[in-house]
Parts: sequence; structure tokens; C-alpha cells
Amino acid sequence: MKKRQQLGFAVVGCGAIAYSNAEAIRRADSARLAYAVDIDRQAAARLAGKYSVPFSDRLEEAFSASGVDAVIICTPHYLHAPLARRAAKAGKHVLVEKPMGASLEDAGTIVSACREAGVRLGVCYCMRYGEKIEFAKKFIDEGGLGDVIGFEITMLRDRSENYLKRDTWQEGNADWHCVRAKSGGGIFIDNISHYIDYLLYLTGLEIEEVYCQAGAFLVPADVEDNLWAILRTAAGAAGTITVGSTVRGGGREQDGEIANSIQRLWGGEGQAILLPELKVFSRKRIGGLAPNRWHRIKPEKIYNRGGAGVKERARLIRDFSAAVLEGREPEVAGEAGLRVMAVIDAAYRSARSGEVAAVGKNYFRRAQPRPDTED
Ligand SMILES: NC(=O)c1ccc[n+]([C@@H]2O[C@H](COP(=O)([O-])OP(=O)(O)OC[C@H]3O[C@@H](n4cnc5c(N)ncnc54)[C@H](O)[C@@H]3O)[C@@H](O)[C@H]2O)c1
Repeated sequence: MKKRQQLGFAVVGCGAIAYSNAEAIRRADSARLAYAVDIDRQAAARLAGKYSVPFSDRLEEAFSASGVDAVIICTPHYLHAPLARRAAKAGKHVLVEKPMGASLEDAGTIVSACREAGVRLGVCYCMRYGEKIEFAKKFIDEGGLGDVIGFEITMLRDRSENYLKRDTWQEGNADWHCVRAKSGGGIFIDNISHYIDYLLYLTGLEIEEVYCQAGAFLVPADVEDNLWAILRTAAGAAGTITVGSTVRGGGREQDGEIANSIQRLWGGEGQAILLPELKVFSRKRIGGLAPNRWHRIKPEKIYNRGGAGVKERARLIRDFSAAVLEGREPEVAGEAGLRVMAVIDAAYRSARSGEVAAVGKNYFRRAQPRPDTED
């Protein structure tokens, strides 16, 4: 690819999240929106019209259009791998929405296809770019927690009334979200994938084993609406993840209600609470914070919200584009996405078997590319 100031993106899949990504591309100085593709021609035309770019219902037309260097894949999960593979083969860099695919195999396919084609691969784990996670990363890197011993992630939502409707902004289109073959699973793969990504990023922990129970209790779908997991790390630390998408009285993210979410990490030196609001405690003086007492970092509601907005996306896209232009790996590279998928894969295997499932240290090699498939 000819080196230039801005990386040209084709948005592939012009549904709910594509609008946030298109806006983030517009805001990122190293990126430029160049094209819009959707099998639904009207959906492509709508997004293209907003940003005055060409569009098509055929991916190959985007590949041959001038100024398209990369794709950002914003389709249902099961289409990420076949579309990424086609883009890589066409020599386009690939930024794929989370989770990487509907399965660990999908994620392996994407990593292998991009490696073989010599194109860069990034995954949209944009929550890492939230100011809160940035603060926590620094606090942990400077020794605020010491060696991490435990973590707790709880998210209780009530989506039972609207999960199956098309127009709920966060849940997207129910005709694929609630179908395991298309989504890979329910709330765990969809939302908790973000949290697993930043848990591993913040702590550097390697998850070795998962024991998990899951079920679909209130949603008439073949994906879980409640899940409980215990994760053990290579270092001997452990943590729990408890999630429900149909918990009566649970928070609605649409309303900014996150009080039903808890995220906490602790180690020999201290503790960090990420949700419902950022608070830290350490026996050490970290970044000017007095030791042995709790500190609320920024109590404002806006600061403590999720962190998957346009602002965070623009930062991720800026890094991905700059990485391509500078010939380096992006900060959230394919391997990070693969690592998350390996944990998700182990959890779902455990839920099916009732046994503890090993994450496996060799999932980079184990995840083999699948033969060519048509989407
Ligand atoms: N990073 C985040 O915080 C975040 C938030 C929401 C959604 N997502 C992810 O974004 C992706 C899309 O989610 P959504 O809610 O926008 O879904 P959606 O159902 O609203 O949109 C998907 C779009 O893809 C199109 N499409 C389907 N098959 C296609 C194909 N073969 N080629 C081109 N387009 C095709 C559909 O017509 C639709 O317009 C998912 O991976 C989802 O998990 C990420």
C-alpha cells in the first residue's frame, strides 16, 4: 500500500454500530471514510449519504474502489471471518468489530488469513480507550495492586422485554443476536468480551481454566441469558463473572443505569473498583494518592459510563490507522481478540460439559483457518 497521511476505510455492514464507527473514522485524523457496503443496498446508501461516500451491496466493488485501504467489519458475528478473509485476500487491512467471530475457529481464521496476506489486523475493543481504563492501567502498572489475586465482574441487566426487538440500540438485530449459529452465544460473548479484553489488558493475566454454568431462562432463544463462571489464571489467581440479561430490576444501559454492574480487582497491595464508579485503594502511594485509604477518582456519571462511545472508537481507529501507516502492530491486535475468544470458548465448553475446561496455551496454533466459505 502506498503510504499516505490517512487510511481509507470501507465500512462493511451499515447497521447500528456502523454509524458510531463512521463518525469515529471522521474524527480520527489518521483515517478517512472512503466507502460503505451492505448486502442491504438501502442500508449502505443511508450511511453513504450521510458521509457523501460511494456505496455498494457488493464487497468486491469496495475492494476495487479508489482510496479503500482497509475494511471495518460491522456485520453479525458469523460473517466476520468470511468477510475478513475476503478482504485480506484482496490486500485490505482488517479492523473487525468485537467479538472476533462466532467461535474460536473464526478468530483463528481471521488471524491466519491476515498473516498470510501480510495485512494488519485490529479488533474493536474500544473500551480500553476509556479514560477510566487508562487510569486503572497506570495505577496497576505502577504497583497499586501488587500481584493480582482476584477479580469480580457482575453485570445484571433486564433486557427480557426488548431483547427480541429490532430497534433496541445496544442489542442490535435480534434475528442474529439470539441465534447461536450466528452470534456464537448470548450476553457473555456479546458484552462480556469487552470486559475480558480489558481485564487481561490491565492485569496481563493468562486465564488457564474456566468452570461455567449457563442457561436461557426467560428469553426464547438458543443463547444464554444468565451465566456464571469461575476463571483461574496461570499465576494461581482466580475470579468470577456473573452475568444476566433478563434479571428483573436489572440496569438498562440505554438509561445510563450501571448500578447493577460491579467490577473489582485486588492484589497483595490494593484494590481497584471499576464499576459502578472508579475507586482505588493501595498500601502504596501511587501517583500522589495517599496510601491506605480509598480514593474516588472522578465521581461524574459520564466518566463512569461504559466507554464504547464515539470518543473511544476514534482513539482506537486513530491508533489502528497510524499503525498501518507506520508499519507497526496496532495496540489492539488480532492476538488480543483471539485471547478473548479462547476464554469464551472454554467457558461455553465448560457450560456444555459441566466440567472444568482448559483454555489451552496453544490456541494460536490450534485455531486453524477454515476452508473458504461463501457468506
Ligand atoms: N464495540 C462495541 O462496543 C460494539 C457495540 C455494538 C455492536 N458491536 C458489534 O458490531 C457488529 C454489528 O452489530 P450491529 O449491532 O451494528 O448489527 P446490525 O444487525 O444492526 O447491523 C449489521 C449490518 O450488517 C449487514 N450485513 C449482513 N450481512 C452482510 C454482508 N454479507 N455484507 C455486508 N453487510 C452485511 C446487515 O444488513 C446490517 O445492516 C457485531 O459484531 C456487534 O457485536 C460492537
